[in-house]
Amino acid sequence: MIHGGKRLVGNVDISGAKNAALAIIPATLLAKGLCRVENIPDIRDVRLMMDIIRHLGASVRRLNTNTYEIDTTSITSHTVPDAMARKMRASYYFIGALLGRSGRAEVAMPGGCNFGVRPIDQHIKGFEALGARVKTENAVITASSRELLGGSVYFDLVSVGATINVMLAAVRAKGMTIIENAAKEPHIVDLANFLNLMGADVRGAGTDVIKIRGVESMHGCDYSIIPDQIEAGTYMVAAAATGGDVWVRNVIPKHLDSISAKLVESGIDVEEYDDSVHVIAHGRPLKCNIKTMPHPGFPTDMQPQFAAMLAIAEGTSIISEGIWDNRFRYVEQLLRMGASIQVEGKAAIIEGVPFLKGAPVRADDLRAGAAMVIAGLVARGTTTIEDIHLIERGYENILGKLTALGADISRIQDEDDDPNRVIPMVSSL
Ligand code: UD1
Repeated sequence: MIHGGKRLVGNVDISGAKNAALAIIPATLLAKGLCRVENIPDIRDVRLMMDIIRHLGASVRRLNTNTYEIDTTSITSHTVPDAMARKMRASYYFIGALLGRSGRAEVAMPGGCNFGVRPIDQHIKGFEALGARVKTENAVITASSRELLGGSVYFDLVSVGATINVMLAAVRAKGMTIIENAAKEPHIVDLANFLNLMGADVRGAGTDVIKIRGVESMHGCDYSIIPDQIEAGTYMVAAAATGGDVWVRNVIPKHLDSISAKLVESGIDVEEYDDSVHVIAHGRPLKCNIKTMPHPGFPTDMQPQFAAMLAIAEGTSIISEGIWDNRFRYVEQLLRMGASIQVEGKAAIIEGVPFLKGAPVRADDLRAGAAMVIAGLVARGTTTIEDIHLIERGYENILGKLTALGADISRIQDEDDDPNRVIPMVSSL
């Protein structure tokens, strides 16, 4: 429940990147040895990922809220069952990681946010280019290979997931793999850095072409995950939309360039420092047009949050979705709050209104849920948001962080599927 209308003011510390953590946890399978990973966000998707890797036989120790030791030396299974895979998209990274580790993977079709059709043909094409046999039967993907061999993979479109999955398989393949038309997101670079610390030979991550020379063995390492670009962006927009003044700390400002640029276009001041950005808003934001694209373009995962801000901007804005077929389902919820938005195919035309009104709304998915939180913070009156477990998939301690910034937000009912169940830390085991 949010009582809206409060300016956000103060400091917020950003957690580790969800999408990097979700690639790095399965990547620990590639080494026999102990990996100590810091800055893992305390979110539901991480808990699910830890459940899966434990199910495969890994030993997982939680040293403190955000640090884990994972030892996959003696895994006992190469199968991710349906009930686990279905809960999240990133479960499919176990295909690439298990293929690389043991030449065999059986993973049920992944779940995740519903943005329309989410095919995995490019992942399969990549595994096949490395010599794996891949089949999908009864919604289970089976991949196997006696010996993975380096190969050339040219992706027909830029896919974050396919780039990561093929990297995971290729680091242990024999010979050189070249991935062309690769995704360039910051978490691709983070994964490459982690793999290289484990003894892999990955070059070019962050560009269109990634070259991977397979190595015979890899070892454990200590690593710290980069800050979450989208979590940071969400707090920046929340500050901007509420006319606030917020220091967003523990970030890599370069990763926020496309987000900062759009805020500046909307009349918001964004000052960059070494590892923080200071966001200062002066009254209502101004209209701006956005088109989502692969990195370094504007991230699709920030699109719903900007829509919530632009709903109260001066003037008419257009958001064009360039990645997903169906990512405007949340608009229906904003309309309930008095927004004026028209969706035409893959574009939303947002006519700014002077204010939103609190209403009961629903989180349709993770980022749509974040947009509802921003709308609720801005709105006059009370907003209640249902299905907040979807928001907690990807935002660590969102209630605590917003409350510290002056928001009036509280949890009024726990949901059945307890997303906040705690993985005990070693000291309390
Ligand atoms: C990841 C993010 C997600 C983000 C998206 C784009 C994770 C866990 N999720 O999703 O939050 O919105 O990147 O930044 O990191 N496609 C195909 N065939 C494939 C793979 C993808 O056609 O085999 C298409 C998709 O339908 C989509 C586009 O490629 O239209 C981009 O998808 P992709 O980059 O793969 O997104 P995800 O990795 O699933």
